[in-house]
Amino acid sequence: MAKFLITGGAGFIGSNYLNIMVNKYPKDDFVCLDSLTYAGNFLNLEKIKNNSNFKFIKGNICNKKLVFELFKKEKFDYVINFAAETHVDRSIVNPTIFIKTNVLGTQVLLEASRKYRIKRFHQISTDEVYGDLPLNRKDLLFLEDTPLKASSPYSASKASADLLVLAYHRTYNLDVSISRCSNNYGPYQFPEKLIPLMIKRALNNEKLPIYGNGENVRDWLYVEDHCEAIDLIVRHAKSGSIYNIGGTKEINNLEIVKKILNLLNKDDSLIEFVNDRLGHDLRYAMDATKIQKELNWSIKNDLSLGLKKTINWYLNNQEWLKKVESKEYLNWLKTHYKNN
Ligand code: NAD
Ligand code: DAU
Repeated sequence: MAKFLITGGAGFIGSNYLNIMVNKYPKDDFVCLDSLTYAGNFLNLEKIKNNSNFKFIKGNICNKKLVFELFKKEKFDYVINFAAETHVDRSIVNPTIFIKTNVLGTQVLLEASRKYRIKRFHQISTDEVYGDLPLNRKDLLFLEDTPLKASSPYSASKASADLLVLAYHRTYNLDVSISRCSNNYGPYQFPEKLIPLMIKRALNNEKLPIYGNGENVRDWLYVEDHCEAIDLIVRHAKSGSIYNIGGTKEINNLEIVKKILNLLNKDDSLIEFVNDRLGHDLRYAMDATKIQKELNWSIKNDLSLGLKKTINWYLNNQEWLKKVESKEYLNWLKTHYKNN
C-alpha cells in the first residue's frame, strides 16, 4: 500500500494516468493536486471522482505553504509531477508563467519531497529538452544522454526542471527518476494541440491551419502506452535514472492531418498552410531501447489503432469538447489564428 501525489492530474496525460491507476491499484491512494488552469478540467476525472482511494485538491504547485502542509498531512510515498504549462505556442507569446510553474513549481515540490523524505520523485519530462533533429538524417535519434538543447521557452523550462531534479538527486540524495516522452495523443487532450484541434475543426468544416509547409516531423505515442511506461519506471527503475519513451511512429504534420481527414470522411481542401511557429523544431525521434530492454515496455497501440480510438472518443464526447471551451481558450484561438 502506497500513497501517491499526482500533480497536474486534471490535465490530459495526468487524467489518463489516474483513470487507469486508481482502478488498477485499489490498495494504493492517489491524491491529485491541480490548480485547474484553462488546460485542466475536473470533468476528466469524472469516472474516478467517487473512488475511495482517490482525492482531489485544487491548488498551485508554486504555493509553498499549501504544498508543505499537504506533504505533512498526507505523508506521500511517491510524487509524480505532471503539472506544467505545456503549449509551445503559448510559451512563445508569454514565457513567464512557464518559468513560474515548470521551474519554480517543480523546485517547491522537490523541497517538500526532500523535507518529508518521500520514496521517489518522478518528473514527467519531454523529448523537446533535446532540441530537434534534421529532416534528412533518419539515422539520428534522441538517446537518454543526448545533450539538452531546448529551442522554445517551454522546452527550456522543462530542461531546467530536469536539471533541478538531477541536482536534488546528486546533492541531497533524493530518490528521483525522469521520463522524457514524445508527442502524446488520445482522450481528454485539450483542443489547442494539433490532433484534437484538427479533429474539432474538421468536424465543424473549418479550415485546418498547418504551420509552414507541414514537413515538421513528430513521433506520436498513444497516451495509455505512455501511462504504462510511467508506472513501470516509478515502481521499478533505479534512482537517478532517465528513460526515453516513444519511438513508435514518425510522421510529418501534413500526413497526420490528412489521415485525420480521411478517417472523418472529410476533404483535404480543408487544409490551409499558415505562418510558421517561431523557432519551430523540425523533427523529434526517440530511441526507446533502454525502457524496452530494462523494463520490458512496448507499445500496445500503433498509430492506426490509436488514431481510430482517439477519433471515436472525440466523436462520442463532443459535449466534453464544448464544456472545456473557456472564454480564455476562445480568446486564444481568436488571437492566435486571427487570419484563419
Ligand atoms: P496539460 O496542459 O493537458 O495539463 C497540465 C495540467 O497541469 C492541467 O491540469 C493544469 O491545470 C495543471 N497545472 C498547470 N499549472 C499548474 C500549477 N501551477 N499548479 C498545479 N497544477 C497546474 O498537459 P499534458 O499534455 O497532460 O502534459 C503533462 C505533462 O507531460 C507535462 O509536464 C508535459 O510537459 C509533459 N509532456 C507532455 C507531452 C504531450 O504530448 N502532451 C509529451 C511529453 C511530455
Ligand atoms: O514532443 C512532446 C511535446 O509535444 C510536449 O512536450 C508538449 O507539451 C506538447 O504540446 C507537444 O508539443 P508540440 O509543439 O510538438 O505539439 P503541438 O500539438 O502544439 O504541435 C504538433 C505539431 O503540429 C508541431 O510541429 C506544430 C504543428 N501545429 C500545431 C498546431 C497547434 C500546426 O501545424 N498547426 C497548429 O495549429
